[in-house]
Amino acid sequence: EKGGWSSFMAKEISEEPEAVANTLLGRVVDGMVHLEDLDAIRDRLLTVNRVIVIACGTAAYAGILGKYAIEQWSRLPVEVELAHEFRYRDPVLDQHTLVVSISQSGETMDTLMAVKFAREQGAQVLSICNTQGATIPRESDAVIYTHAGPEVAVASTKAFVAQGTALFLLGLHLATIRGTLSADEIAQQIDDLKAIPEKISRVLESGERIKTLAGWMADTHSVLFLGRHVGYPIALEGALKLKELAYIHAEGFAAGELKHGPIALIEPGQIVFVIVPSPRDPRSLHPKVVSNIQEIRARGARVIAIAEDGDAAVLPFADEVIHIPLAAPLFEPLLAVVPLHIFGMELASAKGLDVDQPRNLAKSVTVE
Ligand code: BG6
Repeated sequence: EKGGWSSFMAKEISEEPEAVANTLLGRVVDGMVHLEDLDAIRDRLLTVNRVIVIACGTAAYAGILGKYAIEQWSRLPVEVELAHEFRYRDPVLDQHTLVVSISQSGETMDTLMAVKFAREQGAQVLSICNTQGATIPRESDAVIYTHAGPEVAVASTKAFVAQGTALFLLGLHLATIRGTLSADEIAQQIDDLKAIPEKISRVLESGERIKTLAGWMADTHSVLFLGRHVGYPIALEGALKLKELAYIHAEGFAAGELKHGPIALIEPGQIVFVIVPSPRDPRSLHPKVVSNIQEIRARGARVIAIAEDGDAAVLPFADEVIHIPLAAPLFEPLLAVVPLHIFGMELASAKGLDVDQPRNLAKSVTVE
C-alpha cells in the first residue's frame, strides 16, 4: 500500500533511513559486529584471500561502494563485476575465493547463474538479499538479508542503501576476524554507521528543492554525473535512475576520467551533477573535484553540486548546491545518493511518466 504517497517510489525513498537502521538492527552490539548470518561459513571465511562481488544494475553499484570499505578495512583484494560478464569469462576461482552476490529480489537470473557457476568452481558464495527465501539465497552458502522491506517500484532505491549497509557490516566483520582494525576502530565505524539513518532523514528535507530543480529540467536531453572514490558508484547510480525513470540519456563518470574523454561532451548548458568528496577526506580528493567543477563550468556546464554542509569551496563555481550532513567519508554515499533518487523520481514525474512502472523494465528479470 502506498499509504498516502503519490507513488511507491516516493514511499520507498522516504523509507531509506529505516532501510539502513533495520539492516543494522541486532547486528551491532557493544561496538562489535554480530552476523549470525555467517555462522554456516564462519571457519571458511578465515581462509578467504580475495573477494569478488557480482550483481546487476543498482545492486552492482552498491557492490562498488562496498569494495572501497572492504579493501580499506580488511586488506582483502575486492573485484566487482556484473554477474553476466563474470559468468562467461572463465574466471579463476578456488575455495579461498569469497563470491558475494547482491540482489534485491533474489531472483535475477543473471546473478543466479553466476552464483551457481561460482559454487561449481569451488568458491564460497555469500549472498546479500532483500527477499526471504528467494532462489539466490537458497543456492548460496550463507546469506545476509537486508531489511529494507518490500520494494515495489521497479527501479531500486531503498534496497541500495540497505545493500551498502550490509557490505559495510561484512567489511567490519572481515576486519574483525582478520585483525586488520582494532576494537576501537571498529567501535568508531559502528558509531558512525549508526548515525547515518538520522542524517538521511535530514537529506530527505531537501526534497522540495530538488523537485523545483527537476521541474526546471523537464525538457533536458542529457545529464552527466561525476564522482570520485566512493562518489563514483553514486554517479553511476544517479545516471541509471535518470535512464530508468525519466528516459533521459545520462552517464556517470569517475571524475578523474573527465580529462581523458568526457570533457569533450561539455557544451554550454550541459547539466552536470557532481558528488563532491568531503573536504575532510583523508585522500585529499576535494580540491581535485573542485577543480573538475571549475573546468566544466569554464566550458559552460550547469553544475549541481552535492556537497557536505559548510563546504564553501564549491559555492562560487556551482549553479546549485545540495548540502548533506557531515558523515564519515566512507558512509557519505548513503547520504549523497538520496538527492539523486529524489531527482530521478521528480524529473520523471515532471515529464508525466509512471515512476513505479517504467517502460520496458521488470522488477526482477528472470531470464538471462
Ligand atoms: C533490474 C532492475 O532489472 O534489475 C534494477 O530494473 C535492479 O532496478 C536490477 O537494480 C537488479 O535487480 P536485483 O533484484 O537482482 O537487485
